[in-house]
Amino acid sequence: MLLIDSPMQVCGRTLRNRVVFQPMEGCDGTREGAPDALTRRRYLRFAGGGAGLVWFEATAVVPEGRANPRQMYLHGGTVDAFRTLLSEVREKAVETCGFAPLIVAQLTHSGRFSKPDGRPAPMVAYRNPHWEKGREDQSYTVVTDDYCGALPEQYARAARLAEDAGFDGVDVKCCHGYLLNEFLSARERPGKYGGSLENRTRLYFDCIDAVRNAVADRLLVATRLNGCDGFPYPYGFGVNEENEIDLTETKIILGELKRRGIGLVNLTVGNPYLIPHVNRPWNFGPEDGRVSLNRIYDVTRALKAAAPELKFVMSGLSFPGPAAVDEAETALEAGVADLAGFGRMTFAYPTFFRDYLAAGSLSRNQTCLACGKCSELMRAGTVAGCPVRDAEVYLPYYKQYVLRK
Ligand SMILES: Cc1cc2nc3c(=O)[nH]c(=O)nc-3n(C[C@H](O)[C@H](O)[C@H](O)COP(=O)(O)O)c2cc1C
Repeated sequence: MLLIDSPMQVCGRTLRNRVVFQPMEGCDGTREGAPDALTRRRYLRFAGGGAGLVWFEATAVVPEGRANPRQMYLHGGTVDAFRTLLSEVREKAVETCGFAPLIVAQLTHSGRFSKPDGRPAPMVAYRNPHWEKGREDQSYTVVTDDYCGALPEQYARAARLAEDAGFDGVDVKCCHGYLLNEFLSARERPGKYGGSLENRTRLYFDCIDAVRNAVADRLLVATRLNGCDGFPYPYGFGVNEENEIDLTETKIILGELKRRGIGLVNLTVGNPYLIPHVNRPWNFGPEDGRVSLNRIYDVTRALKAAAPELKFVMSGLSFPGPAAVDEAETALEAGVADLAGFGRMTFAYPTFFRDYLAAGSLSRNQTCLACGKCSELMRAGTVAGCPVRDAEVYLPYYKQYVLRK
């Protein structure tokens, strides 16, 4: 039996296999933040994919922290729509695969990338010249200590709503430069949220503690964490003064996460805005995609070795395309991580894993090409999906919003 197809215990829950559908924003919710028709279509397609865990996309905890006007947003007015969607997903999964996946909600505040009305309205941990080069005209709101002090309760409120909606778990998202992640590199911020590692992690850990207190052990509490950002010192996290990857502080954070009752870490690196190739290895970036994927391997392997009792999801595994499942199996067998995460592949070919189990290989005509077109759609401010493999729905958007521009 393949390791990737074998069950695993995670925080007292049984996963039917080790495949994770990574959080992938479709930017296709209603203005109020509820799942809409394309959201429903995406998740029903995922439901037939046979993954052990579906990590639901970034979902805002406050309106000003939405990354786009159609980002998911959990509040009293949208919770019923989430509940309906989750029950449809479970029903479809049981019907097609014989079991329902665990479903985890990713709670986020988009911070520097907030665009609740479609225009940038950055809320930042600190003024960061590395980021802001060429964007000096933009006005930036540095979030106050009072704002930070109130945020954990917003995460807790969203976690309670996630429970009400029927999610199995929640992720306190701390990656890709969004607000909690940006605080990890707030070395130059004065006050209780900047400077020392203890201060820089305060907001993150306060949110984790608030969420844990809100949902106790009824929900699995996980986190998607950047092992390193790939930015130069002092503006990155997981980097030393020589600008080399340095995981010393990440390892300390993992120890703290464990102490705070977190058992599942979805590990990622880089930043999808400034250095997207680091975050999602692709075929047309400034470095060979294999180099980018090897970096993800190195970071994941090192952190898993440092915190073996935590369960880790590895990212970036869509890049090998037709060899993605074979490569994931090898990575799991080698102990690089415990679970294999697939992001772009789920847009291109949601039944890839079931088809692999049936045929022993993946069809070249359906797998992700790591071409970056799903991201281009998102950056163009429209709905995200795969315009190549799911062309009927997404090619018209690609033509209208990307090619025509
Ligand atoms: C269109 C798009 C949307 C994404 N949305 C999210 C998201 O909501 N939350 C998140 O943590 N990562 C998000 N990611 C990153 C993916 O989860 C994943 O880490 C990345 O694509 C690399 O993995 P892959 O090679 O399997 O695609 C997104 C990536 C893309 C391309």
